[in-house]
Amino acid sequence: MNEPLLRVEGLRTHFFVDAGVVKAVDGVSFEIRRGEIVGLVGESGCGKTVTSLSIAGLIEPPGRIVDGSVRFDGTELVGASERVLNSVRGPRIAMIFQQPRASLDPVMSVGRQIGQALKSGTGLDRSARRRRAVELLDRVGISDPHRRVREYPHQLSGGMAQRVMIAIALAGEPDLLIADEPTTALDVTVQAQILELLRELQSANGMAVILITHDLGVVAEIADRAAVMYAGRIVEECTISELYDAPLHPYTVGLMESRPAASQSKSRLTVIPGSVPVPLDLPVGCSFAPRCAPRVEGGLTVCTEQAPESVSPRDGHRVRCWLHG
Ligand SMILES: Nc1ncnc2c1ncn2[C@@H]1O[C@H](COP(=O)(O)OP(=O)(O)O)[C@@H](O)[C@H]1O
Ligand SMILES: [Mg+2]
Repeated sequence: MNEPLLRVEGLRTHFFVDAGVVKAVDGVSFEIRRGEIVGLVGESGCGKTVTSLSIAGLIEPPGRIVDGSVRFDGTELVGASERVLNSVRGPRIAMIFQQPRASLDPVMSVGRQIGQALKSGTGLDRSARRRRAVELLDRVGISDPHRRVREYPHQLSGGMAQRVMIAIALAGEPDLLIADEPTTALDVTVQAQILELLRELQSANGMAVILITHDLGVVAEIADRAAVMYAGRIVEECTISELYDAPLHPYTVGLMESRPAASQSKSRLTVIPGSVPVPLDLPVGCSFAPRCAPRVEGGLTVCTEQAPESVSPRDGHRVRCWLHG
């Protein structure tokens, strides 16, 4: 029973474009247990969305999973048939995205969209589905759900549209929710409410959540563990308390230091000079080496010659860095 709900191992997802091979995800491994919230964090372009789409089997040409494994509750999803993927995606693994309104069907009422997401085979008739939709809207904190259930996406505010997306995601009673920047497009107050809602639902349902964000503050607020991503790899994985007390990777340290004061919540990662390398042209060795001050200070040469393996200096804490291995 100690088997994790999801185990991603050595996942590589590449895009084969005219300019070459974009190694968007290049050896990602992590696990999530039932009922756990893991924050997947990193700057824009580091491969967070491609990771989540790969887990859900939603990568399309010119992209392809070229290597690795995604095991969900005992079922291998890499290379699985559409039939298997469809039985998992939606009912068992649900996803919400940054632009909730873009994910909603503009010409279908909120109630019908939730109804469609209800577990197929539950045998609910039209009026039962409608009742369930109203219940779900109520559950995600939408006031006057009897009225809202008849409305269309354009009648909803951004925060409300995200709540509707969450209601749709919950309709199938998933074991895992993948939330890709669910609050990035929302203003700060609504952002806090949505995060609070996710945490409430997670503890009430025992649902596991992968919370994807570029904002370390968001992760620190609601996650149990953090996985820090850089240039297509996870460079550090640890608990939230270790993230605060003892981050190991120089990138994570930089992210923590560039976090704005707790009162502001839009983080700007401007303290670490440089930017994420384009995955078409990754440096030899550690991808972070060109931006890594401790490497320069320490005069390490191995960093630009060979990519570091993931090591575990402490139980439950993993890092990919020559300074620690
Ligand atoms: N369809 C695609 N074709 C080519 N490159 C892509 C495609 N989708 C994503 N990428 C590239 O993969 C990298 C990771 O993207 P993404 O996962 O969206 O980053 P994040 O979500 O962390 O901001 C980026 O360099 C992006 O340009
Ligand atoms: Mg993204």
